[in-house]
Amino acid sequence: MLEKIEEEIRNCRKCLLWKNRKNAVPGEGNIDAELMLIGEAPGKTEDEMGRPFVGKAGQLLNEILEKNGIKRQEIYITNVVKCRPPNNRNPLKEEIEKCFPYLKMQIDIIRPKIIVTLGNVATYSLLPLYGFKSTSITRLRGKVLSSPLHQIKILPTYHPAACIYNPELKNAIAEDFGKVRELLNL
Ligand code: URA
Ligand code: SF4
Repeated sequence: MLEKIEEEIRNCRKCLLWKNRKNAVPGEGNIDAELMLIGEAPGKTEDEMGRPFVGKAGQLLNEILEKNGIKRQEIYITNVVKCRPPNNRNPLKEEIEKCFPYLKMQIDIIRPKIIVTLGNVATYSLLPLYGFKSTSITRLRGKVLSSPLHQIKILPTYHPAACIYNPELKNAIAEDFGKVRELLNL
């Protein structure tokens, strides 16, 4: 079922982003994952490899995960938009809307306990789905938003790409993943 969606994404032409992609990036990981990480859209390296978070931002993410005893193969990692926007521009509203049903299906199949949204695009796209109002990422980040109705916790944090050269944000994202570790009882 998850593989079927991933296959559908690889062949998708629902928005114009298919035209410039080398590879769509459906996402990867464990179907039984308790933790799901959601980024914005594939970058250059991700587009080349067809895998999420394998470039520079991915390296930082890997370091943070490792420090907290979280194994990539035990979680599920994906993005709101599955094909790379030209020159890494932000995905357009229309692209997000066209692509969103894939993410929704992935979440419904995996049924994670915790979703960490990485950065603005993921945070603003996900929160309304669970009835949360989105305000600025600075205010939201590090807060555990609990939805008993949906049996899920959402923790917004900064995008790792934004943290690479910014020590303050780097500390913040590290702190937020410390909370994730606690929530996972690791
Ligand atoms: N940035 C993202 O948002 N997602 C990736 O997969 C890589 C970089
Ligand atoms: Fe399809 Fe999403 Fe790729 Fe657009 S970004 S072509 S909707 S998979």
